[in-house]
Amino acid sequence: MENKRKVLLIYYSGTGNTKYVTDHLYQRLLEEGFEVDVYRINPLKMERLDLNSYDLIGIGYPIYGFNLPSKVHKFFNKQRFKKGQQVFVYKDSGETWRENDSSSLVLRKKIKHQKAVFTNEYHFMMPYNIHFRYDENLVKEMLTMDQKLMEILVKEIKDDIPNVKKLKFRDNLMNRLFRLTYIGGPVNVSFYKVDKKKCIKCGKCIQGCQMKNIYFNKKGNIKFHHKCLMCCYCTLNCPKDAIKMGLFNSWRVNKPYDFSKIEKIELTEPVITDKTTGFFKCYIKTYQYINQRYKELFGE
Ligand SMILES: Cc1cc2nc3c(=O)[nH]c(=O)nc-3n(C[C@H](O)[C@H](O)[C@H](O)COP(=O)(O)O)c2cc1C
Ligand code: SF4
Ligand code: SF4
Repeated sequence: MENKRKVLLIYYSGTGNTKYVTDHLYQRLLEEGFEVDVYRINPLKMERLDLNSYDLIGIGYPIYGFNLPSKVHKFFNKQRFKKGQQVFVYKDSGETWRENDSSSLVLRKKIKHQKAVFTNEYHFMMPYNIHFRYDENLVKEMLTMDQKLMEILVKEIKDDIPNVKKLKFRDNLMNRLFRLTYIGGPVNVSFYKVDKKKCIKCGKCIQGCQMKNIYFNKKGNIKFHHKCLMCCYCTLNCPKDAIKMGLFNSWRVNKPYDFSKIEKIELTEPVITDKTTGFFKCYIKTYQYINQRYKELFGE
């Protein structure tokens, strides 16, 4: 337990998945004897933090269109890393296609430019909050693999074992092409609508919107301003599924994932196997990587 290195975890989370990963990481780092502070990015408050007293900075974010969320990008444009400071990334998203690898590109450049050191990067599997809903058995399996990945992260950070993938030209290109939410959110929100027959005016969407983008008008109906991040908090959490998500409405996912319930599921057989095809095929490689790296670091 002799480890007094000081870590700051800086993260953004739209619908709670990155918070879930951060909470677990925080707990594990404390258990390993690190001193840990946590800062959750408020997209309405782009303040500069004093990073000087930290040995390590961990940056957590959900991948949006193969990229950093725009506000995370903006937030880090404000920050100044210390020369030689070690920085690692823990990102999460629904699928593990290699296009997601370059989501940290702008961070990597910034870290290098400021003569800090980008040491490690990890991609946690968390269910989609947009596009389609994940089966709970699959989520359970993903969370189990994520636990192993968390152990890999903690061990490598503790023992100063670098772990960074080299980016390829093709990935960098995809990253630039897909800066989807940088413009997509503010444009798409013009088409957001609430089904008045379904809405019970509970105000949950207003309370949870980190951009303060939702309000009751004088008639008591839900309305939207034009500063949306497309984080999907409102569509995921509306108890009546009353919010129509503009041009992406067919990609709307409603009802948050109950992770404490999902954690209790006992799987009787694997969900992803060597025979998995289609969308989730990418998980085969990810699981293989996690299992192999875990074995290298911890034995069986
Ligand atoms: C606007 C938007 C774009 C997204 N793009 C991707 C993507 O390119 N690849 C992916 O695997 N997941 C994508 N996702 C899914 C999220 O990365 C995933 O659900 C994440 O765990 C959400 O984290 P949060 O709850 O901390 O916001 C996207 C989600 C949103 C809202
Ligand atoms: S969360 Fe849904 S039901 Fe509640 S006020 Fe917002 S739109 Fe209406
Ligand atoms: S309006 Fe909805 S999707 Fe847009 S920032 Fe607010 S909670 Fe997120």
